[in-house]
Amino acid sequence: VIRVPVELGSRRYDVLVGEGARHELASVVRRAAPGAARAALVSQPAVAAAGWLDDLDPGLAFDVSLVGDGETAKRLSTIEELCRGFSRCGLARGDVVVAVGGGVVTDVAGFAAATYHRGIAYVNVATTLLAQVDAAVGGKTGVNLPEGKNLVGAFWQPGAVLCDTATLATLPPREWACGRGEMAKYAFLGPEAPGTSMLELPVDEQVARCVGVKAAVVSADEREGGARMVLNYGHTLAHALEAASLGGPGERAGWDLRHGEAVGIGLVFAALLARRLGRIDDARVELHRQVVAGFGLPVCLPAGAEPRALIALMGRDKKARHDLTFVLDGPAGVEVVRGVDERDVLATLWEMGASR
Ligand SMILES: NC(=O)c1ccc[n+]([C@@H]2O[C@H](COP(=O)([O-])OP(=O)(O)OC[C@H]3O[C@@H](n4cnc5c(N)ncnc54)[C@H](O)[C@@H]3O)[C@@H](O)[C@H]2O)c1
Repeated sequence: VIRVPVELGSRRYDVLVGEGARHELASVVRRAAPGAARAALVSQPAVAAAGWLDDLDPGLAFDVSLVGDGETAKRLSTIEELCRGFSRCGLARGDVVVAVGGGVVTDVAGFAAATYHRGIAYVNVATTLLAQVDAAVGGKTGVNLPEGKNLVGAFWQPGAVLCDTATLATLPPREWACGRGEMAKYAFLGPEAPGTSMLELPVDEQVARCVGVKAAVVSADEREGGARMVLNYGHTLAHALEAASLGGPGERAGWDLRHGEAVGIGLVFAALLARRLGRIDDARVELHRQVVAGFGLPVCLPAGAEPRALIALMGRDKKARHDLTFVLDGPAGVEVVRGVDERDVLATLWEMGASR
């Protein structure tokens, strides 16, 4: 098991990565919530069906709550249901929540833990590649609104994160591609030159390397005052594409992109926008395309993408301050760029084949 620390002073914790890491649960729960008498396990039907709850032992009496599947489960009513369940089971201030699943489970269970009794301890057992390399680490928790993704949430750090790579054995192929979206992002944020060489490492080392990049960024800027925004690389368009497909009846876009797939498209878009703004050259754009494709992700906009609707959604992005803000590559590396001209964004979407 590889141990990657997330250095956050009194809130520091370890991410344990490797085959069988889930069997460390009782010991990490003891450390994260020393006074706990009860645990609430939060998971999903697919994780339970794959058998990953069967031999999980938090070392305490526990109850299991299952939440629904997909982005629609990431809603405020899920938090209410979870917290009511915690209360009925007698979960108290000193007790602990254990999230067992992908990013949907860690986001909602983390947010429920952040707000139940004004905040109780939680531990993540990440069972998707995406959750292991990204969602379960760093303390961002929350839910969606119909108006956009992750609009309600809290910074609430877990007491530990277990990334058991054995659980990836049952992960559907499309979910692997999703995790690779975030991995492709880290390929541009880490200390090495961007590329796909990471994919040649054993999977636990791939995960640990990505967690290391995320841990360094989170340690430097826990609450996203600035530097942490680079973790949104590729995400501005990605979130808009996802929000468009979540939109209200009659305005729902006709595509079904998983988060990581949307990030792949978003990375290529960000590179094209950076080139239009004179920040990077053609070769660097091509490198983005190669890395995204090398990680097995789409590089093109979905058919029927309506550019003005996407721009409206991007203006609502949480990085934005009533303007269009992007994370873009450039001479000084990947950084936040504010006040991008809408005409440049529109032209870039057209360049990617958006409808006129
Ligand atoms: N908080 C953060 O910092 C952060 C970062 C990135 C992404 N996210 C969020 O993460 C979410 C996406 O997470 P995800 O990609 O893990 O998807 P997901 O949580 O929806 O999981 C995908 C599917 O796989 C199933 N599953 C999980 N583990 C499995 C396993 N081992 N075997 C078989 N099936 C399994 C799940 O039940 C689900 O049906 C998005 O909502 C995104 O916003 C959060």
